[in-house]
Amino acid sequence: MDSNNSEATPIIEITDLTKTYVMGATEVQALRSVSLTVREGEYVAIIGASGSGKSTLMNMIGLLDRPTSGSYRIRGTEASRLGKNRLADLRCQEIGFVFQRFNLLARATAQRQVELPLFYAGVPSHKSAQMAVEALKRVGLGERTQHRPEELSGGQQQRVAIARALVNMPSLLLADEPTGALDSKTGQELLALFDELHHQGITLVVVTHDIGVAHRAERIITLRDGEIIEDRPNIPARTNGASPVHDNGHSPVNGDGHTVDQLVARAVQRHLAEQAEVTHEAV
Ligand SMILES: Nc1ncnc2c1ncn2[C@@H]1O[C@H](COP(=O)(O)OP(=O)(O)O)[C@@H](O)[C@H]1O
Ligand SMILES: [Mg+2]
Repeated sequence: MDSNNSEATPIIEITDLTKTYVMGATEVQALRSVSLTVREGEYVAIIGASGSGKSTLMNMIGLLDRPTSGSYRIRGTEASRLGKNRLADLRCQEIGFVFQRFNLLARATAQRQVELPLFYAGVPSHKSAQMAVEALKRVGLGERTQHRPEELSGGQQQRVAIARALVNMPSLLLADEPTGALDSKTGQELLALFDELHHQGITLVVVTHDIGVAHRAERIITLRDGEIIEDRPNIPARTNGASPVHDNGHSPVNGDGHTVDQLVARAVQRHLAEQAEVTHEAV
């Protein structure tokens, strides 16, 4: 048995993953032997300087591209050697993306925007309407289902986009530089929503070069030149939302190398995740 929070299901299992881009005579090793496990309910930030491989890793995790070598299992399915169509199917099932631009339809109501992916997945309309309203409730827009984008604030529009990403209950919500194109107020609203979704038990992976954004996560992975150079819990940030970069490694640690806070936080999370599941099934 794995000692690392073994009760929670692994969502992402990456082993010795590499990605090499070939451009004419030059090769860029964007990822070099990356290994990483993310379990259900975790909130992970991936940070690193520009060019360190963040977007490349995100594209692998999000099933948008295939690695040059190595293994990527998503919820137990080996994805690294799947064909394009299977990859696209798996992506629709397992991944919700948060884009920098909201990509909303100008004339459609919030409910309609969120129903759209379900329409393409062939979900019957009485069911999709119900699921869309449920997803809008999860992001705090239960009272805005019939509003169009022009009748919503920037932060509310982003929430609609996130409800759309969540509506088919993906295993994973992925965001690459989610606050990059937002004013600071809307950025803060987005981070508050991520906190809320995390408490609902959703698994979140956020790529950012902004350490302030990373400090909202419970775990911070640092990339440099295509390698993971650090992977650490970020417990202090969970309690007050802001913590110094160097404040790490001084909490009480149990025999498995976990801080007590981390173990308690994970137990609470699992409980919330189970509750979220029960609520969803009851719909
Ligand atoms: N499609 C591509 N073709 C060639 N090189 C690429 C491509 N995408 C990224 N790279 C290179 O791979 C490295 C990692 O890039 P990227 O993953 O975009 O980094 P980050 O998101 O951290 O800024 C960089 O050196 C970049 O120039
Ligand atoms: Mg990038």
